[in-house]
Amino acid sequence: MSPTSTAKPVDSSASPSAAGGSSVGGAADAPVLPSLAANPAVRAAIDAILKELRAAQATITGARPASADGAATMAQWVSRTEAVRGRAPFYPYLGTGLGNGALVQLVDGSVKWDMIEGIGVHMFGHGDAEMVEAALVASLSDLLMQGHLQFNADSTAFAEFLVAEASRSSAIKHCFVSNSGCMVNEAALKVCQQKTNAAPRVIAFQDCFMGRSTTMTQIGDGPAYRQGVALNVQVDYMPFYEPELGSRSTEMTLWHLRQVLDRYPKHHSCFVMELVQGEGGFNVAPREFFLPLIELCRDRGVPVWIDEVQTFGRTPTMFAFEGLDLGRFADVVTMGKMSQACACLFTEAMNPKPGLLAGTFTASTAAFHVGMRALSKLKSGGFYGAQGRIAKLHEAFRTRAEALVRKHPQWFPAVPLPFGRSTTKVIGGIGGMMRLTPFGGDKERISALLKNMFEDGIITLGCGHGPYHVRFLPPIGVMKPEHFDAVFEILERSLARSS
Ligand SMILES: Cc1ncc(COP(=O)(O)O)c(C=O)c1O
Repeated sequence: MSPTSTAKPVDSSASPSAAGGSSVGGAADAPVLPSLAANPAVRAAIDAILKELRAAQATITGARPASADGAATMAQWVSRTEAVRGRAPFYPYLGTGLGNGALVQLVDGSVKWDMIEGIGVHMFGHGDAEMVEAALVASLSDLLMQGHLQFNADSTAFAEFLVAEASRSSAIKHCFVSNSGCMVNEAALKVCQQKTNAAPRVIAFQDCFMGRSTTMTQIGDGPAYRQGVALNVQVDYMPFYEPELGSRSTEMTLWHLRQVLDRYPKHHSCFVMELVQGEGGFNVAPREFFLPLIELCRDRGVPVWIDEVQTFGRTPTMFAFEGLDLGRFADVVTMGKMSQACACLFTEAMNPKPGLLAGTFTASTAAFHVGMRALSKLKSGGFYGAQGRIAKLHEAFRTRAEALVRKHPQWFPAVPLPFGRSTTKVIGGIGGMMRLTPFGGDKERISALLKNMFEDGIITLGCGHGPYHVRFLPPIGVMKPEHFDAVFEILERSLARSS
């Protein structure tokens, strides 16, 4: 079946009524793009473009090494990149612009399995026909970049969609859109600070990551990311959940939290929490861990801000707070990445005074349309729930990872933990956030492995601050369980030459 035959002409999904909001108005003031997209001449042109795209993609069917002269081409591009940026890219990754699902072609002619997709952005992989179609329609818009002053109906429909999804199990009512996770985190902090009369301190979990602004690099628990930054943010870090310690871990964190709340009464603007830590190591925790912490914050009037920039869309529920049944406690939620445009969502009680939140840009029209298309597909495409596609993909990852560990136990020794403890759990994560911990979580060995995996045909990244892990953020929208066979075959080779 042609991918376009199932595709909606942009904006039934982007229409306010589909988003659960109120209608924009009568026909005269309705968004023009849906009818333009349905226009037979426009449709024929889009179909012709997509046909050419599919033909070009047909050559991309599996991982392959660089072509004979590919290394020299890549070296040239890497050196141009290094010259203009002032530093070498993390991987010698420069794409040609062509990809097919979870596979991407680089300028050296190599094709690789993309298991990181821009750190969680390209949920539908590379060159997905429906996403391309949404972007083509968006390109017909009078505005390619939208802003807080001047925007089109699709911008409001996008925000309505997010509020409708979030408010299924929370009191979230409003949405501020911006173009990076960091910027919506800045918005969230301001909202929390205004609500608490400029309370100067922030509570966060150890190993958290929040973005790269001067403030977010200070809240984020990574010294390397704030080298040379003048420190002016006061953060109290709480230990994250340690599964090996079970309820003792909850008691310890609660004890720390009570201490700082007693030590600095009315000095905290928020407790910001990732419900699954992303950069910090794909660490998960049960509801019983978060609940007493949240309840204590509520007792003391400290707003709860849930940072879902990395988790949004990826766990077996669209928002991770739904899966943990914590939505009703969320005062502020931030999200981004796969949605293409990022958002700070908040309750009515947190709605700030005019002037606090604005900006020239919200996001590009393409981001709104591709984001809406991706989210609508995720919502209705059987992705969520215990038997959903995301849960099944996680299971497929685990099954293959377990087989690998059984076959090569020498690559997976026990992982050292603080206070002389250790764990034999070397497979972890949840949903579309998957991790594997070879070599006892040793940083140098895992860094070498990542480079070898890249050369061999898999793009991933590390996560964690010790132990370190190999993290997988596969493009859930297009990844099939059987694709992991090819990925694990390469991974086994890479591990063999890294051990
Ligand atoms: C939990 C979390 N918050 C915030 C951010 C920052 O988002 P961005 O890189 O889009 O600014 C990230 C990015 O990885 C993240 O994982």
